[in-house]
Amino acid sequence: MPLQKCKKSEYKGKIKMDNILNSIGHELKFSNFVRAENCTLFDDKGDRYLDLESGVWSTPVGHCHPRITQVLSEQSGKMIHSGYCYLNPIVGSAASKILEITGIKTGKCVFLCSGSEAVEFSVQLISKISSKPYFLTMKNCYLSAYGISGERSGNRWIHFDWMNEGNTDKIDFSKIAAFVFEPGSSLGLVHFPPKELIQQIVNRVRECGGYVITNEVTTGTGRTGRWFGYNHFDIIPDIVAIGKGLGNGYPVSCVAIAESVTEKIDPKKFHYGQSHQNDPLGAAVALGVIDVIEKEGLLQRAVTIGEKIRCRFNRMKDEYGIIKEVRGRGLMIAVEFQKNDGFSFAEKINEELLKRNVILAKRPGHEVFRIDPALTIQEEQVEYFLCTIEEIISSLRVQS
Ligand SMILES: Cc1ncc(COP(=O)(O)O)c(C=O)c1O
Repeated sequence: MPLQKCKKSEYKGKIKMDNILNSIGHELKFSNFVRAENCTLFDDKGDRYLDLESGVWSTPVGHCHPRITQVLSEQSGKMIHSGYCYLNPIVGSAASKILEITGIKTGKCVFLCSGSEAVEFSVQLISKISSKPYFLTMKNCYLSAYGISGERSGNRWIHFDWMNEGNTDKIDFSKIAAFVFEPGSSLGLVHFPPKELIQQIVNRVRECGGYVITNEVTTGTGRTGRWFGYNHFDIIPDIVAIGKGLGNGYPVSCVAIAESVTEKIDPKKFHYGQSHQNDPLGAAVALGVIDVIEKEGLLQRAVTIGEKIRCRFNRMKDEYGIIKEVRGRGLMIAVEFQKNDGFSFAEKINEELLKRNVILAKRPGHEVFRIDPALTIQEEQVEYFLCTIEEIISSLRVQS
């Protein structure tokens, strides 16, 4: 079984955490994880936990994948950091590979440190080359922790409520500098807008001289069974912002920029400098992650395992009557529960899973939980999870 106890404690130190500022906005559930391997987390006492969350969508090839550990070790031994005026050739190789998988044939990349930074960089870039006043995005999306894309205030942003408004008649596309599209996660609730709607918006924005940025921070690097979330919509963006999974836990992000944008950049007017831009270590890790996904056939694996999980939940939906909807693409999956008097099904299931050392993602206040394991999750771990959760769900049907 995947969750048996290790023989001895792996951590000798005294755990002291009251000196850590927790400003993330989520309750801290564990403070004693000391080791991780693929989808298994180990606490200081040697207990094992099944991680179906991948941190925060950040470990597509599993915690501490041997090839990524090797890349980290080898590249750290050669060169971690360069500087404003120097580049290491590995950065160019990683950029070529990223342009290849994005389908942006002629373009440029910049390597940064977080998803927020990649999205914010993209938005700032367009602000410099477009005189149009607004950015268009979908209601209920998340773009960045800070900056223009973090605020998403009404004087720069139009929020299109696609789930309720349906059509785009009220949008003045002549004023849109860029459509900033998050193709999937939607504040962790996992909703996918219709393909025709997205294609229509993309066409209208471009006809009026605007650009298309996709935020692939959660949906990129194979999570949905394709390289990027936008692949499901048959569009090629002008800018692709990639984060989280690209570093498999190491903080590297990348912005891939098509020639339609790079040809308009005036280097005298657009400056964006930070110390770790285009660092060789991050680029080497990104290249390693892409290589592992290709060599281990993980895009197809995400499709197959994702279908299996969704299929089993759909069967539970018919059988136990407490599931409202099962949504997902590849290994980005959400299960929504019926509203219930007295207690929340999703909260209760999450609590019961935690007692059994199974970790999945739950956004407070919503009857939804997310299943986003590494694309390398073992078949037996999937089976263990499905059997465990079915046991819990079936017991709730009896109680309700
Ligand atoms: C959809 C989406 N975009 C952007 C970000 C920001 O990425 P980061 O936390 O790496 O800055 C997040 C973070 O959760 C996200 O979910």
